[in-house]
Amino acid sequence: MEIFLDSANRKEVTRLKNFPFVVGITTNPSLISQEKVKIEELINLTRKNNLKIFIQTLGKDREDIYKEGLKYFSLYPEGVVLKIPFSSEGLKVIPVLKKENIPIAITSIFSLSQIIVSLPLQPEYVIPYIDRIGRSGGDGIRIVREAKEIITREKLATKILSASFRSVKQVEEAVLAGSDAITIPMKVLKDIMLNPLSEKAIKDFKTDWLSMNEKEHI
Ligand code: G3P
Repeated sequence: MEIFLDSANRKEVTRLKNFPFVVGITTNPSLISQEKVKIEELINLTRKNNLKIFIQTLGKDREDIYKEGLKYFSLYPEGVVLKIPFSSEGLKVIPVLKKENIPIAITSIFSLSQIIVSLPLQPEYVIPYIDRIGRSGGDGIRIVREAKEIITREKLATKILSASFRSVKQVEEAVLAGSDAITIPMKVLKDIMLNPLSEKAIKDFKTDWLSMNEKEHI
């Protein structure tokens, strides 16, 4: 199971050393423009912290997508994964980019059929948007489950990287449905890490121990 942070925030990326189970970040043009950060700066930050980074192309036609792909990959070949939004131009350029050994993630996935037509291109990842699918009346968890069924049946290497989460419950359901990887925003990561019941249990253990022992710990 690969876990990524869905963020382009410099501070959050730097703080990832506190979360050793997070292996990289996923970005998109909205997150990057929100943070007013240069892609090159983000790439340097992830390289410095030995993290993977997913960078999304903005190009509309295959020439532009191709050029973007080569440029981003050349900046950090050992850590960049190229996110290509699902479109006919995007799908057309994938075989060419794969010849350059550029790892590909097909993103902006909202339906099972989009995954079905993407799989023959052997992308490293497909990225369904769980919360956005739910907000549009769809069932993202069902799409993950059924996509996993097809990928397993066809013995394919493509990984399902589930994205677009607002709650811990969505994350749990997406993993149970068969996601091979998840990308979560810092707010959801904090909700997972700061469990009040765990906090209380730890406090009670300490209180009980100190009630019988002077020393802080064994
Ligand atoms: O990059 C895809 C993912 O970030 C979308 O998530 O949270 O904007 O719905 P969200």
